Amino acid sequence: MQDLVIRRPDDWHLHLRDGDMLKGVIADTSRHFARAIIMPNLVPPVVTAADAAAYRDRIVAAIPAGDRFEPLMTLYLTEGTDPDDVESGHKSGLVKAVKLYPAGATTNSNSGVRDIDKAMPVLERMAKIGLPLCVHGEVTTSDVDIFDREAAFIATVLDPLRKRLPELKVTMEHVTTKDGVDYIKASKANLAGSITTHHLIINRNAILVGGIKPHYYCLPVAKRENHRLALRAAAISGDARFFLGTDSAPHVDPLKECACGCAGIYTSINTMSCLAHVFEEEGALDKLEAFASLNGPAWYGLPVNEETITLRKQQEAVRYPAKIDTGAGLVTVFDPMFPLRWAVV
Ligand code: NCD
Ligand code: ZN
Repeated sequence: MQDLVIRRPDDWHLHLRDGDMLKGVIADTSRHFARAIIMPNLVPPVVTAADAAAYRDRIVAAIPAGDRFEPLMTLYLTEGTDPDDVESGHKSGLVKAVKLYPAGATTNSNSGVRDIDKAMPVLERMAKIGLPLCVHGEVTTSDVDIFDREAAFIATVLDPLRKRLPELKVTMEHVTTKDGVDYIKASKANLAGSITTHHLIINRNAILVGGIKPHYYCLPVAKRENHRLALRAAAISGDARFFLGTDSAPHVDPLKECACGCAGIYTSINTMSCLAHVFEEEGALDKLEAFASLNGPAWYGLPVNEETITLRKQQEAVRYPAKIDTGAGLVTVFDPMFPLRWAVV
């Protein structure tokens, strides 16, 4: 038996959904995590500060009694977003970031940004007030191969934007490529990246070898092995620019297991066990706390959590359910394809 005590972690990219799904998944996060950056891609999206306040209230109402969990709200950037609304939402303490979804990039992104010029007034205001922009870093044009979309986004959207507005703080969310890691490492300021649990564990073979495996399909899609290794190196490096954002994204099984399955992998329930496994495998258990509990708050200008959690390595594999029953339907849990021995106790 081996114990690892770390400060209570936060999740810097999480989909909680709404209604029955929200009620069915939130405990899997609030059990282990103190805070999470909540993605705004509901239908309709969370666009205004008033939308975010109402959504926060629904989340808070769904937190199980006894759990201490703070949802950190984001706004969904549209070409019509009002800079004054963003600023007052931020000043009130409600809005912690604004999310850029290129239109069509992923689940519920149709109201996203088509022409970044139209969003410049908001982005300029955010740069002025120090409010971070979270980006889904993929281009969506059909001429770019899906495996190249992150690199193309960096070259054609992100780098030009950062040159135009160097004071804007940008979180490159769910980095999936060596290109993304290298770009973040080369930056001098105002750029950080979140990394998901599953992108540290799977490469694209998990989706495509031996039949199509929809429960390993997410966006950005998992890439080649060399990219996974670059993500692992970044996550275990202790470099303060990299931190955990699970991108846990529940969809009910019928929407995953069909001719046009949704993107999204559900990892909230076993993320900490998976991460302890990965960091141990890399001989870097001492860096898990930086990745999951220290680097994120530093980037977002928030205090680190004072509470701790204990991870315990045991002989017996930890049993997680293959599916959770959410009330909205069954959601398949991420299967890392190796036994998990680290439990949160
Ligand atoms: C997310 C979802 O389902 O909302 N899906 C995913 O594969 N990650 C959207 C997103 O973050 O891209
Ligand atoms: Zn996401």
